[in-house]
Amino acid sequence: MTPVLAVENLRKSFGDLVAVDGVDFEVAEGEIFGFLGPNGAGKTTTISMIAGLLRPDDGEIRVDGVSIADDARAVKRKLGVVPQDVAVYAELSARENLRFWGGIYGLKGQALRERIEELLDQVGLSERADDPVKQYSGGMKRRLNLAMGLIHRPRLILLDEPTVGIDPQARKKILEIVESITRGGQTVLYTTHYLEEAESFCDRLAIIDHGRILAEGSIAQLKAQLGEGSLLTVQGEFLEQPFREILAGLGDLREVEITDGRAMLLVPGGSRGVGPALEGLYGAGLHLDDVLIKEPNLEDLFLKLTGRELRD
Ligand SMILES: Nc1ncnc2c1ncn2[C@@H]1O[C@H](COP(=O)(O)OP(=O)(O)OP(=O)(O)O)[C@@H](O)[C@H]1O
Ligand SMILES: [Mg+2]
Repeated sequence: MTPVLAVENLRKSFGDLVAVDGVDFEVAEGEIFGFLGPNGAGKTTTISMIAGLLRPDDGEIRVDGVSIADDARAVKRKLGVVPQDVAVYAELSARENLRFWGGIYGLKGQALRERIEELLDQVGLSERADDPVKQYSGGMKRRLNLAMGLIHRPRLILLDEPTVGIDPQARKKILEIVESITRGGQTVLYTTHYLEEAESFCDRLAIIDHGRILAEGSIAQLKAQLGEGSLLTVQGEFLEQPFREILAGLGDLREVEITDGRAMLLVPGGSRGVGPALEGLYGAGLHLDDVLIKEPNLEDLFLKLTGRELRD
């Protein structure tokens, strides 16, 4: 079956800076595909090219098999874009913004009025629908932004970090709306640097950094890349190289990440293997002052792939 979105070898540089460096992925019908990456990873640049707002240096983007290079208009009509930076008219009300935006997509009359009421209800803005947007809170503006991206019932919705920069309560509300959209079988490309969001509603994920996809798959497939076992993190007064040498003599333990003073190891056999592993480390004369045992998660995979934490 033709994927709703197919991206091949997408590239974009700004001067010397390579923002998107050969990105390939596909999103199937009804799938929520997550783009997980830290600040500056290239998420917005990728979305902007798919949305037709930025011209790629190279590569191809197809929506329902139609290349954006061949028919940008046809592709754009299939997309609902919810940009990272809220794009609404501050002087107009929510209802007026939606009417304007619906008009751009050729909606009018009764059909447009009904769609607007439906969306206002869905994003919880019915009561404030006639107030000028400049009187809205950040969360309310974001909810309106979301409604605008949905007005023409797009085939594919592009959501660029819809929960960034708002308070936890507003964020929760946005997440509820996104969840209700996704339950309806909508195909979505969702960028975020929040792991919990990616984990809670993405069917598949790509981990992106420095413009490249480092890993891709379902949550289970990504976790499996770390390997089976428990994750043992130890801290103490040791240096990277001698620690590695000790580790090499300890058989089964696998390195996830080792730096001076801190090592993250995968212990095969799960928690049963942790006791012998620690005995081995202590037995080699290491002084450890902090030990943490847990099940591996995506943040650990991210750290292993990029050498840095998701949040900065
Ligand atoms: N118009 C531009 N001119 C120059 N550099 C740009 C431009 N847009 C983006 N960049 C650079 O490209 C890189 C990727 O930026 P991008 O906005 O795609 O990242 P992002 O993953 O969306 O990050 P964030 O999580 O902060 O939104 C960054 O280094 C950024 O500074
Ligand atoms: Mg961005």
